[in-house]
Amino acid sequence: MSAVLASPATYRNFSVAPLCGAGGAEIIGVDAARPLEAGTVAELRRALAEHCVIFLRDQKLTPDQQKAFARNFGPLSPTPFIKPLDGHPEMMRIVREANETKKLNFGGRWHSDLTFQAEPVLATCLYSRESPTVGGDTLWSNQMLAYEALSPGMKKLAEGLTVMHSAKRSYGPQGTYADDDLKSMRIEASVAALAEQAHPCVRTHPETGRRILFINWVYAIRFADMTEEESAPLLEYFNRHSQRPEFQIRLRWTPGTLTLWDNRSTQHLAVNDYAGQRRVMDRVTIAGDKPFFRP
Ligand code: SIN
Repeated sequence: MSAVLASPATYRNFSVAPLCGAGGAEIIGVDAARPLEAGTVAELRRALAEHCVIFLRDQKLTPDQQKAFARNFGPLSPTPFIKPLDGHPEMMRIVREANETKKLNFGGRWHSDLTFQAEPVLATCLYSRESPTVGGDTLWSNQMLAYEALSPGMKKLAEGLTVMHSAKRSYGPQGTYADDDLKSMRIEASVAALAEQAHPCVRTHPETGRRILFINWVYAIRFADMTEEESAPLLEYFNRHSQRPEFQIRLRWTPGTLTLWDNRSTQHLAVNDYAGQRRVMDRVTIAGDKPFFRP
């Protein structure tokens, strides 16, 4: 049984095979290339909230079909600072060539997507076009479980905090990606990445009402009204806590695997352990709403 909900839901339109104790589930019996019935979409939404990460194997999708699948869950929200795939302004291609030797890989540190925005994305839809035979897995960490594992005192402290998020450490002029190390990606560093956005340290899931620890190593840079230096020790504590193994979900990709993850309740990381092999993924993100904390 998934640790995500105490009583697992039942599904009429497809089968669900849970993956890990912390979440993740394979959806069996859905062809994502075809238009989906409203009932199937409603159940996929429920499965996403229950398991945090859902995936479908052996899908054969064009970029337009992947976008159409993702639009079942809301309007698409393009990723800033990265040039989109030609002809598909809402889609980005994550590529690492077999001959790339850099230590850095795209998405290689724990993060949730685009939390530097006022309305961070609801979900990310990632499709594997080419995957290493071994390696190149993605890890997620269930941040509802991370919140629930905090002590009562720490929960109370976290609930009172506001966190400032910014893309500056990744896409700012001095950011990780500014020196064009990831040559296969089309990243455009910019001063626009220096902007900051305030979010609650604990957010409430708008569909389930569950509480989520909402920080990450990449974009959460400080607490409101504090310096980065002052914030660092407690942020580091939350970040280390949030990636504990018992909160994690791990997926091995095969070409044609289509994944949808709840970006509100999870963090993720692309494992960089496949030197000498090519990995190509197409990504679209689905618009979200403003994070809030319901006391
Ligand atoms: C990302 O969206 O951060 C990349 C995930 C991956 O490539 O596995």
